[in-house]
Amino acid sequence: MQKINFNSMDYQGMLEAVFLATQDAISVVDEKGEHILVNPAYTKITGIEHDDIIGKNALYDIEDGEESVHMKVLSTKKPVENTKLKLRPSGKTVVAQAAPINVNGKLKGSVAVLHDISTIKDLTDKLEEAEKKLRELTYKYKPEDIIGNSKAINQVRNLIEKAAKVPATVLLRGESGTGKELFANSIHAQSSRSHKNFVRVNCAALTDSLLESELFGYDEGSFTGALKGGKKGLFEEADKGTIFLDEISEISLNTQAKLLRVLQEKEIMRVGSNKNIPVDVRVIAATNADLAKSVREGKFREDLFYRLSILPINIPPLRERIEDIPLLVKSFIAKFNDEYGRNIVDISNDALDVLMSHEWPGNVRELENIIGRAIIYMNINERVIRTTHLPQLNSNKVQNTVKSTVLTDDDVSTLDRVLSKTESAYIESVYLKFDKNKTRTAKELGISLRSLYYKMEKYGIF
Ligand SMILES: Nc1ncnc2c1ncn2[C@@H]1O[C@H](COP(=O)(O)OP(=O)(O)OP(=O)(O)O)[C@@H](O)[C@H]1O
Ligand SMILES: [Mg+2]
Repeated sequence: MQKINFNSMDYQGMLEAVFLATQDAISVVDEKGEHILVNPAYTKITGIEHDDIIGKNALYDIEDGEESVHMKVLSTKKPVENTKLKLRPSGKTVVAQAAPINVNGKLKGSVAVLHDISTIKDLTDKLEEAEKKLRELTYKYKPEDIIGNSKAINQVRNLIEKAAKVPATVLLRGESGTGKELFANSIHAQSSRSHKNFVRVNCAALTDSLLESELFGYDEGSFTGALKGGKKGLFEEADKGTIFLDEISEISLNTQAKLLRVLQEKEIMRVGSNKNIPVDVRVIAATNADLAKSVREGKFREDLFYRLSILPINIPPLRERIEDIPLLVKSFIAKFNDEYGRNIVDISNDALDVLMSHEWPGNVRELENIIGRAIIYMNINERVIRTTHLPQLNSNKVQNTVKSTVLTDDDVSTLDRVLSKTESAYIESVYLKFDKNKTRTAKELGISLRSLYYKMEKYGIF
């Protein structure tokens, strides 16, 4: 360090300024451990006035049971590193450091610096609390989070409540976007297992062997890349809680056999192990496929199908409960207002009419997306969602579009041209109907994705 030359007056003045200005408390005791000097920050942090502390013992300002850093310095003659202390009367938590004061080789006292960490501690506590809430939020949908008042949704709501009360396996069936995950969450949250884990597994997202080791875990050395010490499977993670097997129709016959065993025996065997581990897990499975059909086609085990569908719950598609749309729209407006910091107050009757005459192939998720998108594109001064904010929703008119293309074509045209025109119009309407989802459009049209891309390019559909 560079040595700066001060005359002694300057030096003293500067020290004093530091002493007065610092936000950390400074206290000095003499060799007997009695306070002889404190700075203004000391009073702010401890709550003790200057005149009240001078002459008082080093233990005066700390809570009972805490060890005084001053006394430690005086007895060991060595500095004390960061020590957490609780002060009184303020009750604040500080980190203290202290060092001996030696004059001409003789111990004359101790100086301590106290740094207030109460705010940091408060913030950490709050952060922990928020994290806990967030963990709960990831699965805890309250029954009132299920929006809708139609007869159909009320029936589902009743079944969900019943299912929550018993440990039986539940099979949720419904088209994509009908709320299967929401209902699975809701069953768990209303059940006696709600304080334990809710573990979701997307069976469609993993390859067969990965899914197996994810579900059941594995023992050390069971395959290349296996972790040392093995790994717990999701069934073990969900012990005493709930496992949600989403897209159950996608699991292989091999994994189906293993799953059936778990349901029957209530125990799992890790991959590469021969030890049975008992598990107590409630299973909720979901599918948007027709499982009975998969059984007939030999793609799904009949015995597993019956095991899973002890309590089947069918979630009706949105087009069969369009009376729920106004309430759903209202709740999505509130949600997106919150998320995007907007202040949308309503939707116009015309716009609501448009929404209520749509087919909703993507169900509630599609509705949620449309409202979200409308809000994003609305000007900041617009308060009401109008038809102009909605995308073209012409799904009900797919058939008409086709007919009209042919019928309104007055000119006599080659058959090829009429066919091309019709094909192009039909592809476009199906494409819009499925919310510009190419995979689903191709599936609906019964053509390959490649062929769809080719045709879209040919007809300039984007
Ligand atoms: N009745 C409802 N009330 C409120 N929100 C709903 C309702 N049904 C569905 N949603 C919302 O719609 C979206 C889609 O729901 P969810 O993911 O549960 O559908 P899903 O049936 O699992 O669909 P997929 O088969 O495509 O996975 C979610 O954001 C969900 O919160
Ligand atoms: Mg889902």
